Amino acid sequence: MDMKTYMLEKRRIINDQSKSIINYSIFDFNYVPENPLIREETKQIIDAFLKYEETNISINQVIFGSRGSGKTLMIKYLEQLFTEGSSLNILYANVRYYSTSFKILAHLLNLSSRGLSLSELYNRFREKYNSKTIIILDEIHLWAPKEKQRELLYFLSRDKRNYMIFMLSNDPRFLNDIDQSVKSTLQPELIHFRNYDAHEIQKILDERTASGLKKVDAGINSKIAAYTVREANSDVRVAIKSLFYWATQGGDSIEKCFENARRDIYVDLIADLSDTNLLILKAASQISDKFAKKVHMNYVDIARSNREQPCSYVHFYNQLSYLQSLGLIMMLSTKVNRTYANRITILCNEKIVHHVYKLRYK
Ligand SMILES: Nc1ncnc2c1ncn2[C@@H]1O[C@H](COP(=O)(O)OP(=O)(O)OP(=O)(O)O)[C@@H](O)[C@H]1O
Ligand SMILES: [Mg+2]
Repeated sequence: MDMKTYMLEKRRIINDQSKSIINYSIFDFNYVPENPLIREETKQIIDAFLKYEETNISINQVIFGSRGSGKTLMIKYLEQLFTEGSSLNILYANVRYYSTSFKILAHLLNLSSRGLSLSELYNRFREKYNSKTIIILDEIHLWAPKEKQRELLYFLSRDKRNYMIFMLSNDPRFLNDIDQSVKSTLQPELIHFRNYDAHEIQKILDERTASGLKKVDAGINSKIAAYTVREANSDVRVAIKSLFYWATQGGDSIEKCFENARRDIYVDLIADLSDTNLLILKAASQISDKFAKKVHMNYVDIARSNREQPCSYVHFYNQLSYLQSLGLIMMLSTKVNRTYANRITILCNEKIVHHVYKLRYK
């Protein structure tokens, strides 16, 4: 086929497909559908909201679930559901962007935190929110490790105003990092969002298709759903992105669209890592036998050369488990002489790690 024929043919396909999209916003990860698929666990959250609204009894909650299991979406949906006819103030902060007590409070008060002490900021918070208030802290595992005390959690959980705290995370180990004194006043209830099955992911895709696409070939959504469960740990973001590629990338096979979507999500995942985690991955990529001890030594060097305070071996180890839970690395115990040592295998494309590192540090 000559290039002109190829170009004309491809243009026709792309034109046809983009005409089939009525609403691009359905592909936006922050889009809140009118009728999201409601998981059973949501009732537990609604009950907690209602109980607090009616009786002022607040029980703090932790919502766990792997990436793309709908934690953020569900809480945003409930926030909307409770805007009308409710006496509750519902506040939301994502710890990814506001990673210390200071920053969270300043954000919730819409203030600059300059020149104020933490207790002054907190007093302002109390004055402003003097009635029933739910504070949602999303991606709480990204709390800056340097703020060990997590003072805001301590203040909120001891406050006579009975604030209610909702903590969302895909990394259950963050609870271990919280100071014992804070943990004992928080006493959170745990809600676990299990991974979606293929049928549920298909329903989510069908709902988006119905509100955003003119047509979709039968069987596409169920294929994407099956791949997502099998190869992307049920992360609905991968499913939505695959559908997007399928709808916009003239004639690519569904397998290719899925692969591209999965690769993109890895890029996002690595780009979103905390500095410590990114440096650990970078350090691992430079050590040929990848024994954890050597990687840690290399990590300390790299952190120092970038004027970052390196974390301890224990914390480093916790971060390795986190990277493993994200599917970026795998830990294997290998016999060395007569003892066992842990070795890291990098599961993602190392080029992406180098690229993100260069963008952030050079
Ligand atoms: N029940 C659902 N109905 C409709 N869309 C959903 C549902 N669950 C998840 N999604 C969609 O999947 C994508 C990922 O969901 P969400 O951002 O809520 O995941 P998460 O659990 O917060 O992940 P992370 O741990 O990475 O923050 C979003 O675009 C969201 O709209
Ligand atoms: Mg989320």
